[in-house]
Amino acid sequence: MPRFSFVPVSRWFSASLLASVLWLSGCDDASSGAATSGGDPEGIAGSLAQKYADYFPIGAAVGNWQLDNAAAAVTRDFNHLTAENAMKAQNIHPSEATYDWSEADRVAGFARSHGMKVTGHALLWHRQAPAWMFAGVSAGDAASLSLLKSRLKAHIEAVVSRYADVIDNWDVVNEAISSDSAKVYRDGPEGSQWYELFGSEEYIYWAYQYAHDAFEAIEPGSSAGKLYYNDYTVTGKVDQILTMLAWLETRGIHVDGVGFQSHEYMDWPSTGELQAAFDRFVAAGYKIKISELDVTVYDDYASGSFVASPQVEYTPELEAAQARRFASLFSLYRANKDSVTSVTFWGVTDNRSWLNYVPVEGRADYPLLYKDAKTPKAARTAIMNF
Ligand code: GLA
Repeated sequence: MPRFSFVPVSRWFSASLLASVLWLSGCDDASSGAATSGGDPEGIAGSLAQKYADYFPIGAAVGNWQLDNAAAAVTRDFNHLTAENAMKAQNIHPSEATYDWSEADRVAGFARSHGMKVTGHALLWHRQAPAWMFAGVSAGDAASLSLLKSRLKAHIEAVVSRYADVIDNWDVVNEAISSDSAKVYRDGPEGSQWYELFGSEEYIYWAYQYAHDAFEAIEPGSSAGKLYYNDYTVTGKVDQILTMLAWLETRGIHVDGVGFQSHEYMDWPSTGELQAAFDRFVAAGYKIKISELDVTVYDDYASGSFVASPQVEYTPELEAAQARRFASLFSLYRANKDSVTSVTFWGVTDNRSWLNYVPVEGRADYPLLYKDAKTPKAARTAIMNF
């Protein structure tokens, strides 16, 4: 697994990431056809969520675009939702005095009206965090640290309480672990203002404490099972994450589970590596969720360092090979159903995936279950067929 040492730096720290995410949240492209709802108006057989009813909920990351343009696919195949961007702090809390609930309310409302539950994503992340949160705060100054804590607490209380009826798990902290395995925590040089201003990993503890307390204030006991940690390339971070979780236990915080984002490649990580990582977390008392699944058809790291692969044609052979990769991942997930609490795709249709913009702007990728809102792929058939 040599990729681990260099994947994150190029892939997730790419300068184009934020622009892409913002483009995705602001674009109003209706090219994929009008939404229909109810029944099976498009003649597409079966329901993925029903097929997996005895295993785990099947989720999709959505926002206004998917609800406007792919609602039939969402209701056909999914019984769990994540807001792709709308519940991130920068989107939902753009200034200290202003919450913008519009898109997050729509996702939550859609879930409620279809009997679905929602993953809250994410209460604390070093990316897509609003500048006001850190304004006037200086590292090493006790008064400004208490200001930052009070802002974080207010944010978490407001967002947790608004969706407490429909959210069954929160990514309380996203991506706080270092991509350098010689360290445990992502620190300032890796782009975490949280670490820089607190001067340590202490902010992680406060995020969990505030999230726990927000649920408990609404209904005693209701935080149980809902507090997750989420990260990418988790197979390479197991020791570091377990170190963090053990430290939190010493501080009285029990995190319920670990989200494997699972932005996977065609051949990495192997199912053996994934199983070994699952086993370590489960042995330590934690649940697993697959939180942001997609399978890129590219491998820009095949030569050892980042070299952008040229765009490929999505041939029937490539579609079939990708379907086999999805089938093997789902076979693994099913074998771990007692520990896997949900499996969520990072989107619905290839033509709207973030991977068309990251890490190579404008290169078409094909990482999901539908080509467009009306065209399911071989991958969908493959994971339905067991
Ligand atoms: C990370 C985040 C997601 C999303 C993707 C890129 O995985 O957790 O919210 O921003 O990056 O789209």
